[in-house]
Amino acid sequence: DLPRSVKIVEVGPRDGLQNEKITVPTHVKIELIQRLANSGLSVVEATSFVSPKWVPQLADAKDVMKVVQNIEGACFPVLTPNLKGFEAAVAAGAKEVAVFASASEAFSKSNINCTIEESLARYNGVAMAAKEQNIPMRGYVSCVVGCPFEGSVPPSNVAYVAKKLYDMGCYEVSLGDTIGVGTPGTVIPMLEAVMSVVPKEKLAVHFHDTYGQSLSNILISLQMGVSVVDSSVAGLGGCPYAKGASGNVATEDVVYMLNGLGIKTNVDLGKVMATGEFICNHLGRQSGSKAATALSKV
Ligand code: HMG
Ligand code: MG
Repeated sequence: DLPRSVKIVEVGPRDGLQNEKITVPTHVKIELIQRLANSGLSVVEATSFVSPKWVPQLADAKDVMKVVQNIEGACFPVLTPNLKGFEAAVAAGAKEVAVFASASEAFSKSNINCTIEESLARYNGVAMAAKEQNIPMRGYVSCVVGCPFEGSVPPSNVAYVAKKLYDMGCYEVSLGDTIGVGTPGTVIPMLEAVMSVVPKEKLAVHFHDTYGQSLSNILISLQMGVSVVDSSVAGLGGCPYAKGASGNVATEDVVYMLNGLGIKTNVDLGKVMATGEFICNHLGRQSGSKAATALSKV
């Protein structure tokens, strides 16, 4: 059975831009976020409070949040890798945060410079501070089917990390195929393992489209009871610490598919397409969305 409605979590301004070599001006980021919210997207991940040495593109997180915190009608979570990031985020006006762990040890080291256990201990500290201040916290698990260093990742490792994040208070756990290698053949057993320890209502899926498998992986996830999908306008994206990772599944393609299935999203496809055109023009790049490319020729 498919869900009647799906919540789309737009990650373009964060996951989409974090890998861009050329610095996008702060006002362009703010306009991007504003336009995405105006398209009916109820959650727009806005930026990251991470080390500017690690992700220079998002060094203006504070300036972005200063404006974005006042936009009405949507939530604007931000990534926080530790307490320092959490405190900076809250001070800048963030009302929601997200922590990001990995199901693979080698990726944890390369992405956040610590072991999985060390990251979970840090996130526990963030979770306690968040609870105290009534800040909702989302959790990510990366490398849920494959790791750029270790190859395939056992579903039990994913279930372990997902449960830890859920137990520490994450209201939603997003399962990330960081390098986009998954197919329904590997995604189904991974979801089965996670669903045996975390309620499926609390899960989101986060697919990168490196191998063109995202929509089939999303469809299978919906059929298994997931109703939250992460995506990125124009398919922007890629993780700077995951070699070979390409963009997230395009928001336009997800909305097109959900519209076709009669699943409610509240997202205006035309407005998201126009937003995709806006950011692609700025980046001097063609859209990664097949639906947007096709519809713009109709
Ligand atoms: P570290 O070097 O181990 O940190 O980095 P440290 O604690 O040793 O501190 C070193 C320096 O960083 C110090 O500054 C700290 O103050 C500073 P210095 O004294 O040298 O001037 N620092 C910070 N500055 C700003 N904000 C902070 C912060 N924390 C420390 N929060 C750290 C550890 C986690 C900070 C670093 O590795 C980092 O920032 N990593 C972020 C990597 C990242 O953003 N990756 C992309 C997002 S994850 C992703 O894309 C996957 C996802 O999309 C899901 C999927 O696709 O699977 C979510
Ligand atoms: Mg990602």
